[in-house]
Amino acid sequence: MFRLAVVGAGRMGQLHLTVLREVAEIEVVGVVEPAWQVRQQLERFGLPVFADVPALVASTPVDGWLVAVPTPAHLQVVMELSYFGAPILCEKPAGLSVGEALQIGRVASSTGVRVQVAYWRRFVPSLKLLRARILAGELGTVQSIICQQWDEAPPSQAFRRSSGGIFIDMGVHEVDQLRWLTGSELDPVAAVGRIDPASGDQDSAHGLVELSSGASGVISLGRFFPGGDLVAVEVFGSRGHERLVLVDPQQADVAQRLALQEQLRDFIAGGSAGATMSDAVAAFRVAEALQAELA
Ligand SMILES: NC(=O)c1ccc[n+]([C@@H]2O[C@H](COP(=O)([O-])OP(=O)(O)OC[C@H]3O[C@@H](n4cnc5c(N)ncnc54)[C@H](O)[C@@H]3O)[C@@H](O)[C@H]2O)c1
Repeated sequence: MFRLAVVGAGRMGQLHLTVLREVAEIEVVGVVEPAWQVRQQLERFGLPVFADVPALVASTPVDGWLVAVPTPAHLQVVMELSYFGAPILCEKPAGLSVGEALQIGRVASSTGVRVQVAYWRRFVPSLKLLRARILAGELGTVQSIICQQWDEAPPSQAFRRSSGGIFIDMGVHEVDQLRWLTGSELDPVAAVGRIDPASGDQDSAHGLVELSSGASGVISLGRFFPGGDLVAVEVFGSRGHERLVLVDPQQADVAQRLALQEQLRDFIAGGSAGATMSDAVAAFRVAEALQAELA
């Protein structure tokens, strides 16, 4: 049994804890959560909860870490955990800037600790099939790919003010997905968006990228999609077309939960299918450039 510790148990950490109940190969040996209000929400999981990492490691051995702290804390928490030598699955985007992602990469190489970044789309079966078909040329020459991510409602104002902006908080998923689906690198071309004056974060935005294959990509993001979250991908090829709806308001987050389970299984098996730190840095460069277009 793999002994996993979860660090940060807010919105995403609690989703991970919920899906972890279905992963029989993993035992959650502890959760680190400094906020007492959040610690009260964790009682329903029946797990040992600690206020900090030293308290957890003093109480139990750990084979791996899942980091779901706010993005501005990724670097500091990964640095702290790398001291213990066990692999780390860090939530996207792995730092708040390209510079921080590079620093996490340097910490990983200098300590020999494997850091995988939680780009869960890589574990959605229908997307894996689409990737295989694109790479095998079944759709012909890919002309364009449109990726949509529209959330039902925005996160808290506090989260929005410190999340790095819509392309860094949300759009990195689409950037990583485009690179992984096509095997191409991305050149950011332009971005437009509508700002929320209260947080300084965008309510919606569109990014245009050119793929090294010559195809074009459109990244469509929004923080208001009443009725539920939507994640969709549409590929236009010279010999075929495909539209996949990965997260559908009618089916809630079933596909995401199953993909999160597969991601955890891949992580404990060595992470051969997951995103590496160099994938995360590459995605970050594109997301950061698109975000800069909005300034
Ligand atoms: N993969 C996805 O689809 C997805 C979706 C949502 C969020 N995320 C990512 O997950 C991360 C967390 O986002 P969230 O929405 O859960 O935020 P959140 O604010 O709801 O939760 C973060 C939790 O971490 C705790 N925390 C803060 N500093 C800590 C520390 N040093 N050690 C331990 N815990 C600490 C906070 O008290 C809080 O409870 C972000 O990086 C975000 O980008 C990923």
